[in-house]
Amino acid sequence: MTIIAPSILSADFARLGEEVQAADRAGADWIHIDVMDGRFVPNLTFGPPVIRAIRPATKLTFDVHLMIERPELSIAEYAAAGADRITVHAEACLHLHRTIYQIKELGLPAGVAINPATPVSSLEPVLDDVDLVLIMTVNPGFGGQSFIPYSLEKLRQLRELLNRRGRSHVDVQVDGGINPSTAPLVREAGANVLVAGNAVFAEADRKAAIAALR
Ligand code: DX5
Ligand code: ZN
Repeated sequence: MTIIAPSILSADFARLGEEVQAADRAGADWIHIDVMDGRFVPNLTFGPPVIRAIRPATKLTFDVHLMIERPELSIAEYAAAGADRITVHAEACLHLHRTIYQIKELGLPAGVAINPATPVSSLEPVLDDVDLVLIMTVNPGFGGQSFIPYSLEKLRQLRELLNRRGRSHVDVQVDGGINPSTAPLVREAGANVLVAGNAVFAEADRKAAIAALR
């Protein structure tokens, strides 16, 4: 079954709690939370206090995507603020294996993300350790960008590697440029968790928008 995770990066920040509730009512499975530090990516969003503030708005899983340098320094704060799962960027971690175990020791599923120019093969040493792999389908930093077609090849490579290692249960997530046209392509290539910002929050009818992605 496909998991749909609307990204609140495209929501109205002035009404964040209500936007999260609207996504919940519209049938979202997870709420995707894009944390950006203005260093790892050229944009700055929010951190633990905002996550804590919207936590009471829903019981849905908070899927926290850390686009920050040195995430190992603040992972515990994100967990305490209400993250249900945490994904870090391979490019941001000097000791990726250690950081993955830091997340797992907090009792949360651990994800690893790679940028469009990072090869899938670089993840091979940690595939036995992660619960989710996020293949970025745009360069992280902003919502509303176009899907990078080469991502489909990376998804197929990843699925093959996971199958070969007996790790086919690992979630494969995509993030960036996912809409009703690209959703069938990424699913066919092996993705089972679809993040969508604009394709959900820029639509007046969020329920129809989520149904269209499914
Ligand atoms: C990109 C973010 C995405 C973004 C997706 O840096 O990680 O989650 O919000 O937005 P859309 O779906 O509009 O491309
Ligand atoms: Zn994201």
